[in-house]
Amino acid sequence: MRVLLTGGTGYIGSHTAVALIDAGHQVTLLDNFANSKPTVLDRLSEITGVTMDFFEADVTDREAIDSVLAHRAFDAAIHFAAPKAVGESIARPLHYFNNGVGGTVTLLQAMDRRGIRNVVYSSSATVYGMSDELPFREDAPTEVINPYGRTKLMCEEILRDLRQSDERWNSIALRYFNPVGAHPSGLIGEDPQGVPANLMPFVAQVAVGRLPVLRIFGDDYPTPDGTGVRDYIHVMDLAEGHVAAVEHLATEPGHDVINLGTGNGISVLELVEAFERVAGVPIPTEVVGRRRGDGPASWADATKAGDVLGWTARRSLDEMVADAWRWQSQNPNGYPD
Ligand code: WQD
Repeated sequence: MRVLLTGGTGYIGSHTAVALIDAGHQVTLLDNFANSKPTVLDRLSEITGVTMDFFEADVTDREAIDSVLAHRAFDAAIHFAAPKAVGESIARPLHYFNNGVGGTVTLLQAMDRRGIRNVVYSSSATVYGMSDELPFREDAPTEVINPYGRTKLMCEEILRDLRQSDERWNSIALRYFNPVGAHPSGLIGEDPQGVPANLMPFVAQVAVGRLPVLRIFGDDYPTPDGTGVRDYIHVMDLAEGHVAAVEHLATEPGHDVINLGTGNGISVLELVEAFERVAGVPIPTEVVGRRRGDGPASWADATKAGDVLGWTARRSLDEMVADAWRWQSQNPNGYPD
């Protein structure tokens, strides 16, 4: 199949591009480089041996999207392009609604004009909010706790309404838990702008000497060791889940919502211990107060992905850490400009 990846040079998008090529599909990438760098394109060619079509464009730019979709006969789109920082969404809600929701609508309208109506949407476990009914099943109540989460839930509901209005549309919203790690080549990986908000890239930057100490946001949670528990999933497992989803849409019509997680909860201290053990590098830590908006625990009920897509996460925490460390140690300052 020929698949358009919006946000294709981003962290999840670039790894999904590799998984799609590995699975024998053709890939076109679209990105505005708001949260990624052009170097990713060279790295993708090096890994796959394929030079993928690339368009620098913004999903809110109707004319640009129309011309990209006119370029090839696409079978489907995987829509990653959206701002994704929870804290930023609280400070800049209109930017999130315009890009996260408006960009999705612009893309879907352009796809409709071209008769391309299979779409996989990048959603997030953040839509489960702070519920303590664990593990999170897809039919669990959703709870919006920030504008970022609201954009994810709104786009899921847009896709559901679209399918109900026109059965030519087929869509799957994938709710990611905590993607971490990197392609085993170490050529692509997670390269957050500025100081990382997320745990794994922060730990990796402490390990490589870019940051001095990991501040642990609270060790007084009702969890086994008091630190926050999350469902960390290897980004290559996540990428393969997207391949399974877009292939599923080709033969199974409808709209669905599916968790992409391992079903296992790992604490901050457990992840730090694994990193020190696998990388052989000490990670200085300091316990500080809880981070506003954090819940104690989150992990997936991952059975539906197995039942519907025939996909399950298979890479271990040690593999996640080893691959994250290989990327970071080979690219201490991330991608070059
Ligand atoms: C994980 C754990 C922190 C950093 C976020 C988004 C979510 C999704 C994934 C997009 C928590 C602790 C972290 C640090 C720490 N993104 N921590 N010190 O918050 O579960 O999810 O990223 O879809 O929407 O909310 O991930 O990696 O930030 O935190 O102690 O410097 O690590 O308290 O327990 P989170 P995270």
